[in-house]
Amino acid sequence: MTLLKIARMGHPVLVNRAEEIPDPTTREIRSLVENMVETMMDAQGVGLAAPQVHIGKRVIIFNAPKGRGEEDAPETDFAPVTALINPVIDILEEEQELGWEGCLSIPGLTGAVPRYTRIRYKGMSPTGQSIEREATGFHARVVQHECDHLDGILYTMRMTDLSMLSFTDELQRRAADAVEEDDDGEDGDDEA
Ligand code: NI
Repeated sequence: MTLLKIARMGHPVLVNRAEEIPDPTTREIRSLVENMVETMMDAQGVGLAAPQVHIGKRVIIFNAPKGRGEEDAPETDFAPVTALINPVIDILEEEQELGWEGCLSIPGLTGAVPRYTRIRYKGMSPTGQSIEREATGFHARVVQHECDHLDGILYTMRMTDLSMLSFTDELQRRAADAVEEDDDGEDGDDEA
């Protein structure tokens, strides 16, 4: 396996639409996914999209807890990491909520981003299994963030209030001073 170089904001690969993959089960895609998993683990991210490693193809990986309705979901080779090829999202509820996000392509920053609270996502695994799951909360957020990468969208482009874009260490400094206010389990640490 190989650690891949991560593209940072400003690189054109991050703002272009990634291409569909005709056959998700090729050795090339499997190798890409393996290297992406290693790269994500090394960078301590919770998700990664192929454009972030300079590959303009529709592949995402993420590490998210199982949600409602997915107990029967097929286990992938890379569990607990999920790899999805040609992923598609259906929005199940119009409601959005703000949550802190980071991105390995925008190191050091974190921002509050509105995301749909309940989605269904579908895609193929690198072994050719069809994956379909419902997701809520942080799980739904990560998948929306990664799928956005495939359409050339960075989280900052989804922000509705740029005053909530912050250096992560500044935010942590202030959070440390505050008294246990934020108990929603999201801490702006997670980069995807
Ligand atoms: Ni990202």
